[in-house]
Amino acid sequence: MQLRKGCRRLAPAALAVAVGLFARGLAALLALGLAFTAGLTFAARLGVGARAVMAGAVTARGVSARAAIVAAFSLLKQGDHLLIATDIYGGTFRVGEKILPNQGVDVSFFDASCPDSLLEAARPNTKMVIFESPTNPNLRVMDIAAIAERAKRLGLLTIFDNTFASPALQNPLALGIDIVVHSTTKYISGHSDIIGGAVVTNDDAIAYAIFEWNKAVGSVPSPFDCWLTLRGVKTLGVRMRQHCANAQKVAEFLANHPKVDHVYFPGLPTHPDHALAKKQLRGGFGGMVSFEIKGGYAEVKAFCEGTKIFILAESLGGIESLIAYPAKMSHATMTEEQRLEVGILPTSIRLSVGIEDADDLIEDLEQALEKA
Ligand SMILES: Cc1ncc(COP(=O)(O)O)c(C=O)c1O
Repeated sequence: MQLRKGCRRLAPAALAVAVGLFARGLAALLALGLAFTAGLTFAARLGVGARAVMAGAVTARGVSARAAIVAAFSLLKQGDHLLIATDIYGGTFRVGEKILPNQGVDVSFFDASCPDSLLEAARPNTKMVIFESPTNPNLRVMDIAAIAERAKRLGLLTIFDNTFASPALQNPLALGIDIVVHSTTKYISGHSDIIGGAVVTNDDAIAYAIFEWNKAVGSVPSPFDCWLTLRGVKTLGVRMRQHCANAQKVAEFLANHPKVDHVYFPGLPTHPDHALAKKQLRGGFGGMVSFEIKGGYAEVKAFCEGTKIFILAESLGGIESLIAYPAKMSHATMTEEQRLEVGILPTSIRLSVGIEDADDLIEDLEQALEKA
């Protein structure tokens, strides 16, 4: 299985692994989390899914993905400059725009769909770059290796948010990324019943700096969340296969529906990044599908209120199907102008396609679209 191979290839030094799973009360787990230099392979205890998550990892922790992202940003100092991809999760945008400037960190944005734009956007004080792929909610696919290569040329630290693909579909450390962050809330735990985040790196110094920061600020999850995450990650591979298969069918259905304007799903040949997605993602195109409904807010509302299986909720990556309305949910921090600039329209709808029966899901969408 690819994931196991990846783990063997990436963890020759048998580095210890930990997730944002090490609550203080779990002393034994914490000890393992601390022991990365001792050559422990905690992943071995967690099964294949966990190995995939942790391939090449040294450490990872955080009470949510936002905490994990902030932990990675803690490597920045006053006067440093951070480059954030314009097409990014709203929470990352929020930290970049509202928090970091108050701490003396310069922040600006670059277009990750064009790797060379990094070369133009970098400044003498640029230290770090953060991006994601597939992106939330537009599902653009960015060339991870190309961006990592340009960042290396400039001596920048790369942070990559792998939440949407999950480690089952892509391993960014193998593509040259320095630090990977995950919302373990999503596919990794997989059942919408915990909040957690992980920071994954194969660099001991970075791992230790982040560990120290986490220890200092006390950003650790509860033991029960840790246990649920460990249980969830064991089925990551099978869940992802079903998410991908269902999302492909849902995207194809929506693409042919008269009430739908545009469908954003990297698995459709019409998607602008389809060729890159085929090369970069392994075994599927993910479980997220975005689309624009014809009409305006009234149609959005009727559709979102009209589904019976899809639940209107902001999260994603769980076994059950969810609908989100990015303009008022995940990307509400952005101004309308900022949203329009990155292609989040008032009619944009995001689906997290679960692992239910695909025909039931399509039937549900069909009857809700009829009401819209
Ligand atoms: C790409 C991405 N990263 C991070 C997060 C934040 O996750 P958490 O709720 O675990 O902080 C989200 C949440 O939707 C997300 O979509």
